[in-house]
Amino acid sequence: MSTFDLIGHDIEEYCEAHSTPESDLLYRLNRQTHLETINPRMLSGQLQGLFLTMVARMLRPRHIVEVGTFTGYSALCLAEGLASDGTMHTIERNVEYEDRIRDYFSQSPLCNRIELHIGDAREIIPTLECIWDLCFIDAEKEDYDTYYDLLLPRTRKGGFILVDNALWNGKVTGEVAHNDRDTHAILAFNDKVQSDPRVRNLLLPFRDGIMMIEKITDN
Ligand SMILES: C[S@@+](CC[C@H](N)C(=O)[O-])C[C@H]1O[C@@H](n2cnc3c(N)ncnc32)[C@H](O)[C@@H]1O
Repeated sequence: MSTFDLIGHDIEEYCEAHSTPESDLLYRLNRQTHLETINPRMLSGQLQGLFLTMVARMLRPRHIVEVGTFTGYSALCLAEGLASDGTMHTIERNVEYEDRIRDYFSQSPLCNRIELHIGDAREIIPTLECIWDLCFIDAEKEDYDTYYDLLLPRTRKGGFILVDNALWNGKVTGEVAHNDRDTHAILAFNDKVQSDPRVRNLLLPFRDGIMMIEKITDN
């Protein structure tokens, strides 16, 4: 269930009809992902993609990192907001997506500014020497805590970390089975952010919930 399931698909359709449509490239990537992958719901889609583009365009970041590329949709959306000398790093551990991602990135005018890293983000993040202006976490739920601990110290004061699925299909407010590890991980992560004095945070009830985190300290 997404927040659109909670407020109704009529509202979702109305929002889509009153938001800028996907570019031809994003439309084709969205469609191919739905036709050819087993879990296409992982893809951000028109509204969340546009939200990411707009956040990036407001910040004009020089250094963006994304954890969890999937087929590359959100990376293409975020890259649209890069500063003119900016670079987008995106990390995906599933090698089976690599050819499709590279194919679509190569069709974007921003392809020279998007760097795809294939491998485990927990190993790759420490090798990237950037200070991040904008991070997007959208990978394994049980590792959210680890990605956050790796990224926050290397995010500049005033920079942002956006974390997807913070409402986890609405499961965060219900009774949680003891073996539901993903929900327990999201609950612990949300609590951790809420009590972290280094940040200001907003749990935005948009789609599956986006935890928006602004770093407010120097370290
Ligand atoms: C929800 S999908 C990402 C969707 C994408 N951001 C979008 O909006 O189109 C999550 C992806 O994270 C990848 N992933 C999970 N754990 C990872 C890790 N430790 N390092 C890199 N990628 C990971 C998965 O293989 C999957 O493709």
